[in-house]
Amino acid sequence: MTIKEIFETMDYGTAPESSADALAWIVEQGSRFGHFIDGAMTTPGEGFESRNPATDEVLATLTQATQDDVDAAVTAARSVQPGWAALGGKARARYLYALARLVQKHARLLAVLETLDNGKPIRESRDIDVPLVARHFYHHAGLAQLMDSELPGMEPQGVCGQIIPWNFPLLMLAWKVAPALAAGNTVVLKPAEWTSLTALCFADLCRQAGLPRGVVNIVTGDGAVGEMIVNADVDKVAFTGSTEVGRKIRAATAGRDIAQTLELGGKSPYIVFEDADLDSAVEGLVDAIWFNGGQVCCAGSRLLVQEGVAEEFHARLKRRMDNLRVGDPLDKSVDVGAIVDPEQLARIRSLVDRHAGEGEVHRAACAMPDGCFYPPTLISGLSPASALMQDEIFGPVLVSSTFRTPDEAVQLANNTRYGLAASVWSENLNTALDVAPKLAAGVVWVNGSNMFDAAAPFGGVRESGFGREGGWEGLGAYLKAPSGAAPLVRTAAFVGETAEPQDVDRTAKLYIGGKQARPDGGYARNVYDAEGALIGQAPLSNRKDLRNAVEAARGAKAWSGASAHNRAQVIYYIAENLQARADEIAARIDRLTGGSDGADEVVASVDRLFTYGAWADKFDGRVAQAPVRGLAVALREPCGVIGALCPDAHPLLGLVSAMGPALAMGNRVVLVASEPFPLMAAEFMQVLETSDVPAGVVNLLTGSHAELAPVMAKHLDVDAVWSFSDPELAEVVEREGAGNLKRTWVETTARDWMGPAGEGQLFLEAATEVKTVWVPYGA
Ligand code: NAI
Repeated sequence: MTIKEIFETMDYGTAPESSADALAWIVEQGSRFGHFIDGAMTTPGEGFESRNPATDEVLATLTQATQDDVDAAVTAARSVQPGWAALGGKARARYLYALARLVQKHARLLAVLETLDNGKPIRESRDIDVPLVARHFYHHAGLAQLMDSELPGMEPQGVCGQIIPWNFPLLMLAWKVAPALAAGNTVVLKPAEWTSLTALCFADLCRQAGLPRGVVNIVTGDGAVGEMIVNADVDKVAFTGSTEVGRKIRAATAGRDIAQTLELGGKSPYIVFEDADLDSAVEGLVDAIWFNGGQVCCAGSRLLVQEGVAEEFHARLKRRMDNLRVGDPLDKSVDVGAIVDPEQLARIRSLVDRHAGEGEVHRAACAMPDGCFYPPTLISGLSPASALMQDEIFGPVLVSSTFRTPDEAVQLANNTRYGLAASVWSENLNTALDVAPKLAAGVVWVNGSNMFDAAAPFGGVRESGFGREGGWEGLGAYLKAPSGAAPLVRTAAFVGETAEPQDVDRTAKLYIGGKQARPDGGYARNVYDAEGALIGQAPLSNRKDLRNAVEAARGAKAWSGASAHNRAQVIYYIAENLQARADEIAARIDRLTGGSDGADEVVASVDRLFTYGAWADKFDGRVAQAPVRGLAVALREPCGVIGALCPDAHPLLGLVSAMGPALAMGNRVVLVASEPFPLMAAEFMQVLETSDVPAGVVNLLTGSHAELAPVMAKHLDVDAVWSFSDPELAEVVEREGAGNLKRTWVETTARDWMGPAGEGQLFLEAATEVKTVWVPYGA
């Protein structure tokens, strides 16, 4: 054989990683696992087998948790939570450091165990999953160290129920457990039924770290156990998994005053412009869709490539696909491993087969092992409406379509109900950075894909869920501001006897799209003062009025694109015009409420507007210190359209307190004014009319909060609902908002609107969502 022939026939040899230590660890544990509750493993009970998907061998037997097991875990977590919180951030940091070091010490065991259980290539579990797990614990040890001084007064949520999927079993555990513990919470975590072994190994590390018993509890089992956790006495639910289950969890927790983060599915676009470095973009795509066999929530599963280079790009892509190595996940030179379970394989097959005949299918020409494997697949030339372009396949299947202009790319990219991640490839940073802000996604990678870090917030918009994991923002999701002790109670409207209007000085209207509008139904209710005298009539808005208001708000998009400086100017102008009518409006407030602090309320309202004008260009994002050659820029973006049911008390300040932060951050609002004192809306709309507020940015309705709440919560074009008036509405707002996984903020305790609690960061955070943009820098 000549040297030339050797080179031509040269191929990778196999480079298997030994599974001996990991299998020995399983045997040492008895090959049968119970749960980890209150610091000890329970006796194994009835359960199910955990298999290696690459070989179908049984690895271990796991226990299906019963209601008693879940109750015991929650009770243990509850009893030690105050003590764990009282230790203080610095003491908790020590435990998190210890866990980080133990993860590093046992890195090989954890990586092999993960690969055996999940089927992902050892290259990934060894080089990505496990190092990121250690990084997560280190980073959160740091956050714990700093939080008492940096976030004074914040409190942990309490007991957190955490439900994680099978695609990154240990990494998702780290994403959930590290911030929860850092913030002073205790947890009851359920790994996915197909992949529980590394979580059980982590339980062992908790013991080795000397973590106080009960702080981390791990129960195993299927979705039924997940439901038990959701229904248990927990203060927060953190979930990663399918959108369908996320929606169920949202509905099941409605009205229970339970904090939530939901990280759900995606169909993330991977946009290649004609001026991209095509070879890099092909390589990036390997990371985007064949990383973990495409079983990644933020997989770049939807390729959008500019027409001029589409043919060339697809040709290079196919060549690269044919060179992928699919096979034994323990082989260090394998690129694509096994699919996690035959059930998931069947799901992928059925979705693809159902649409056979659509598009052109290319399956990688590489050798395929038998068993639970699926070939890397490209389906090109699909129409944007095809189910293959819309539905999450969650396997190594890339779908593609072409576009002509950047505008069309954005349109196609956003043509999905999801909004988790996106990749943009262009050598022209002007193009990439012009497109990035237009993408409906919680994470955007410029010339990259699937980059993660503990310091960089991660999470979605739309049906990809809400809340962020990672960095200060992720820590915030495990903390809360001390809540008011007193329950929120409604204020009753005054009643009167007068049948016919007397002394009625104004016929109030609604304010929709910059114009005063009569209510669609033509109904109004009499409004009385404290003495029972009729002082006016307030329109009763119906669902049509609300829909009109939302449409107007939706149309006023330009506000979100206006500069923060411009928004501040408008807010200052509203304040100025309010000030100009201070005496008159103060007197009106006193008449409406029967009180005497109208003047104070006007002063507080003007001041609050100035505060939010000030905040408009100061509530900045931050650059996360991710260990990459690039910047992870965590930007604060407006939610979009916010609907608010304003507080009963303080009819003016209530409107201002909801409107101010929303407007400052670039949202448009539909405000339902104080129900007992609705006539203030009529005064306020006159102030708005003279203040250069663009039409549709602020819409004012009056009427029954109970009637309007479900309509608002269900409306697909409302992005967030704030409910500040009626504690009884918490349930309906959260339940009805589950449809499009709306962000909701429902108050059930009384807030001191006149004091500092009525404004500030809490409101600005609620009015924004974090978008993390990864940009090459210093490479
Ligand atoms: P899943 O959403 O059913 O499972 C995720 C976790 O939730 C598991 O621990 C499961 O036991 C638990 N669970 C299931 N039903 C529950 C319920 N009613 N209440 C509480 N917990 C419950 O995901 P599954 O069935 O494993 O995969 C189905 C599809 O979901 C995949 O094909 C993929 O499209 C998507 N998925 C998305 C993930 C992501 O990271 N966003 C992760 C896993 C799956």
